[in-house]
Amino acid sequence: MVERFPMDIPFGWFFVGYTDELAKGEVRTVRYFDEDLVLFRTEGGEVGLTEAYCAHLGAHLGVGGKIEGEKLVCPFHSWGYNTKGFCTEVPYAKRIPPILERKPALKSYPLVEKNNVIWAWYHPQGLEPFFDVIEHEEIGHPDWEELDRYCWTINTNPQEIAENGVDTAHFKYVHGMDAVPEGKTTYEGHLRHSLAEGERTLAMPNGEMKTITSRVETVQNGAGQKYTRIGGVTDTLLMVLVTPVTREQVELRFAFSHRKFPKESFEYTAARFAIALVIGQTGVEGDIPIWNNKIHRRHPILCDGDGPIMQFRNYFQQFYVPRLAEAAE
Ligand code: FES
Ligand SMILES: [Fe+2]
Repeated sequence: MVERFPMDIPFGWFFVGYTDELAKGEVRTVRYFDEDLVLFRTEGGEVGLTEAYCAHLGAHLGVGGKIEGEKLVCPFHSWGYNTKGFCTEVPYAKRIPPILERKPALKSYPLVEKNNVIWAWYHPQGLEPFFDVIEHEEIGHPDWEELDRYCWTINTNPQEIAENGVDTAHFKYVHGMDAVPEGKTTYEGHLRHSLAEGERTLAMPNGEMKTITSRVETVQNGAGQKYTRIGGVTDTLLMVLVTPVTREQVELRFAFSHRKFPKESFEYTAARFAIALVIGQTGVEGDIPIWNNKIHRRHPILCDGDGPIMQFRNYFQQFYVPRLAEAAE
């Protein structure tokens, strides 16, 4: 059997849920980072992501587990856990095992909530976060729309999805776009920043051709956070959220917001049209069949019309621990 991808799961901050979709007292079973996990919110509002199996006799905490106050309580013998994975209560024990006080009984993930997203820090060696999630002032701003959300499960990995942005040649053959605006890209540590500005002539929703000044700015912040600001007729923000489910499967989410305009306005129609382009064959739907079936060529044969693919791979390499890095070249 061909191994499709030589690389492991990269580290970074990854989407594990939307803030407004996880209620207080809710316990959810999820599978991310090749592990069975539970995501929960206490009655006080704190959020936790821990391994799914109880440290006692291994019951699944997401099946019958309940929130009581600040604890996630196991359905089997009622041991209670906090959001950091510490067992804080064994209701029937006369003497609590001392180990439970010394260290967390369950593996847990560092979490932050920003941009209406619950972000988990994944690192294969369990290192603490060494950079932050970037916050967007547009999200939750009264002048900006609620998030418009899309999700796909795809048999690929975060690097393959991110590489698509620098693969200049495919825009014509997959997405039917004549020209991709030339952008300026800078790499700085874990950040990749690209900016494409210029006049573009676009077909408007009513079929009319119109020349507008467009500005497309994309930032990649580690393996799991990427966003694009599209300025033109309407300012739009797109969060690209990729979460590894296993080494060979991801959940890809697009969440859009744009300035509020009356539904009948030209600006509103243009914003909806731009979103439809990013979602449809001209966007991610065009890439999905390719991603689902391709392999990763470590040593691809490239030509002068290809984008800066190897430069991108050099940048992305930093999100693998060295032991795994050689394999991802
Ligand atoms: S298995 Fe969870 S409390 Fe016993
Ligand atoms: Fe693409």
